[in-house]
Amino acid sequence: MTFIRLAGVGRTVALPDGNQLEILTDINLEIERGEHIAVVGRSGSGKSTLLNIIGLLDSPTTGVYELDGQPTDVFSARARARLRGATFGFVFQQFNLLPRRSATENVAAPLLYASGRQVWGRRAAAREMLERVGLGQRMDYLPERLSGGEQQRVAIARSMVRNPTVLLADEPTGALDVDTGSTVMDMLQHVVTEFGTTLVTITHDLSVAARADRQFRLDHGVLSGLSAADLPSVTAQRSGS
Ligand SMILES: Nc1ncnc2c1ncn2[C@@H]1O[C@H](COP(=O)(O)OP(=O)(O)O)[C@@H](O)[C@H]1O
Ligand SMILES: [Mg+2]
Repeated sequence: MTFIRLAGVGRTVALPDGNQLEILTDINLEIERGEHIAVVGRSGSGKSTLLNIIGLLDSPTTGVYELDGQPTDVFSARARARLRGATFGFVFQQFNLLPRRSATENVAAPLLYASGRQVWGRRAAAREMLERVGLGQRMDYLPERLSGGEQQRVAIARSMVRNPTVLLADEPTGALDVDTGSTVMDMLQHVVTEFGTTLVTITHDLSVAARADRQFRLDHGVLSGLSAADLPSVTAQRSGS
């Protein structure tokens, strides 16, 4: 069964001047479990809005969004929040780490809201995830002592610590230089592949998008498929990772 299914999804917002702004128009998108897809598009094209709808942070104003065969518009706010926490991990361009907390505490933070684990169990899970992203030597560092690439790896560990079904990454390399971004994407792909996590990456970088199984372009709120001919070769990246 298709895991994520958007059919005719639109998103319109009412502007203060009384006009309507149509951010997304007739989005049709189906994503299978374990697939990696990428969405490219210019700033303002609606990428974050689409990702937020998929992650249940926002809702369509028209059309249908089904998650695992279930229409998502029937849930209460509380049920949506619970489903969001159990299903999705998020990674953002700005790493959004808690500044006064160590890497371990940052990664353990999402587990505070999940039931069933004591403090030591949360710390152990966080430390194991930090090992997986190659930060075994940095677990007690505050974010300010970490490089941008390391901070994003902490954020990735935090997003994966509850073993989400889907990881939603909004411009994950947007604040990193090209080489660091490539290393971070190698690591992210490695971790999600290991866990069988579905990955949706929003990027304006075609070489980042080219790593996915399928690519789409968002242009003024309209989604279309990209073909291999639109993408740079990724042979070098794949063999290097
Ligand atoms: N709540 C909102 N109210 C008004 N305009 C919005 C709102 N959310 C997004 N927009 C506008 O919709 C467009 C798409 O936004 P966004 O999804 O953030 O694009 P992207 O992530 O591709 O840069 C932008 O022009 C943005 O300013
Ligand atoms: Mg955005």
